[in-house]
Amino acid sequence: MSHILGFGGYVPERVMTNDDWAALVDTSDEWITQRTGIKRRRVAGPDESTLTLAGQAAAVAIKDAGLSADDIDEIIVATDTPEVYTPDTAALLQDLLGCRNVPTYDLGGSGCAGFVQGLDVARARIAFSPRTILVVGVELITRLIDWNDRSTAVLFGDAAGAVVLGPEPGRATVLDIVSGTDGSAAGILTLGVGGTRHPFNQAAIDSGAYNRLVMDGRRVFTEAVTRMSTAVSDVLDRIGKTVGDVDLVIPHQANLRIIDAVRKKLGAEQERVYVNIHEYGNTGSATVPFALWECVETGRIEKGDLVVLTAFGAGFHWAAVALQF
Ligand code: UT7
Repeated sequence: MSHILGFGGYVPERVMTNDDWAALVDTSDEWITQRTGIKRRRVAGPDESTLTLAGQAAAVAIKDAGLSADDIDEIIVATDTPEVYTPDTAALLQDLLGCRNVPTYDLGGSGCAGFVQGLDVARARIAFSPRTILVVGVELITRLIDWNDRSTAVLFGDAAGAVVLGPEPGRATVLDIVSGTDGSAAGILTLGVGGTRHPFNQAAIDSGAYNRLVMDGRRVFTEAVTRMSTAVSDVLDRIGKTVGDVDLVIPHQANLRIIDAVRKKLGAEQERVYVNIHEYGNTGSATVPFALWECVETGRIEKGDLVVLTAFGAGFHWAAVALQF
């Protein structure tokens, strides 16, 4: 078994409202609110980067665990918006935090499901050989998206979240995780430029394709609802529990209508499904760990609670995690 020893989260100070977006592109507070539930999001300042956001959340989680950087045996960073192309953000984070020369790696390209996938990898590593692992989900999406594309730009915000996972009993036990991928649906959510298929070159810049997130919004919507609700049911089956036993579900926050549809499919009341999308928008792989930290910080989660995390993301990936506090 692996256990969460500490939780961390960080969001930049700058708030950008729907009206701020409406001043830049052809959109409105009404459209964004009705279609997504988002009211505002955070935007990183010029002195911030993916690494600094990750560093803030990681430091909070390590302190919360009552540990120091020296105690960390491995670092996993889930991000689709890395600090640099090579090396991994996790290596840079190791140096920033002053950790020992422990192994580090990024889970890149998993979209918003990256953090929960990272938890799954971390618990397997701990089962293989006991160690203390820092798992971070971080995105600085606002610096890479196309600010002229109203159909995607208004959806996102910047944030970071982190947990420290270890083999000894802590604040929450990871009871089980289910995860899956349908690679045949890779095309429904993709940023294709920058790899070897479409190198980042002058032609990519001239065409504007270099920062164009290609998204089949409706297909992503239906996949998200089906995959997240099934993943939650599956993980509960595996631990012999039902939705009625769950104190709180923390779903990925991409669209309030997706969250509502998942909630209805599961048959859970509104108060047992966490929502913060109005404040932060979709913060990619930071969403779930940031929301988890927020729930712990505000007392929304209490000792004894059964909590289920679930996420989906580009890939198409999905996962659900059962946590016993
Ligand atoms: O981690 C990333 C995961 N991404 C997602 O989870 C996205 C999942 N999908 C969604 O959340 C929804 O599909 C969206 C919020 C992206 C779009 O909502 P929708 O109800 O599916 O709208 P739509 O794409 O069918 O667009 C409806 C209309 C279109 O105009 P026409 O063709 O009907 O004239 C769009 O051009 O809304 C228009 N539109 C906008 N209007 C104002 C698209 N974006 C905007 C905008 N402001 N920002």
